Amino acid sequence: MKFHVMTLFPEMIEQGFHSSITGRAMEKGLLQLDAVNIRDYAVNKHMRVDDYPYGGGAGMVMQAEPVYRCYEAVKEKIGRDVRVIYLTPQGRVFNQKMAEEFAAEEDLIFLCGHYEGIDERVLEEIVTDPVSIGDYVLTGGELPSLVMMDAISRLVPGVLGNDMSAVGESFADSLLEYPQYSRPAVWREKEVPEVLLSGHHANVDAWRREQSVIRTAKWRPDLLETAQLTKKERILAEKILASEGEL
Ligand code: ADE
Repeated sequence: MKFHVMTLFPEMIEQGFHSSITGRAMEKGLLQLDAVNIRDYAVNKHMRVDDYPYGGGAGMVMQAEPVYRCYEAVKEKIGRDVRVIYLTPQGRVFNQKMAEEFAAEEDLIFLCGHYEGIDERVLEEIVTDPVSIGDYVLTGGELPSLVMMDAISRLVPGVLGNDMSAVGESFADSLLEYPQYSRPAVWREKEVPEVLLSGHHANVDAWRREQSVIRTAKWRPDLLETAQLTKKERILAEKILASEGEL
């Protein structure tokens, strides 16, 4: 997977991506990053890439031409049309399913805006996927693109080590993940649930599934609408929902 990021702050993208698991995956050649500075494609001698908005209003707008020239350069390097993700609070809200869909691509271009946005004409020309990472407004698209790249990267085969797995985790089937415990078995008088020490795999699986249902009903009841639950699990979820309502 190769990420191409069009940004005014390439060092922010590089620093964010070079650490931890994504950094290691880059060393192994499983992931590649090309952070491209839009300012390098400015069309005036002051290297300015923004100007006042037509019609007035606060803030500055990123101009169309530098963004387009930057896009053309990136596209030429790739050699074909690829999806262009524009990070904006106006986009479709990112989720695990979208991460899976993007992880199937070989190359992805991310376009990070700043100031009050980017001239609409160039967005119409190049953007295939406007995406938001949630209903709040950030100062630019760099953090959202790092969030998306992280979520996509861990789905690329080999990026997570053998001892880590992307199956059975939160959202895999519209349920949150069960709670995890490690040594010691007793910590500040709090004990690890006994079943986890039993070595009985079927019981452990059943307990974890039940915990997933309970946790989802408590913390993210909205997810229950799409979760595939047995009749018994549905009853359990309803019970939790009713008791949460009493609090
Ligand atoms: N740019 C500013 N806020 C954003 C958000 N919530 N998601 C994606 N891009 C953004």
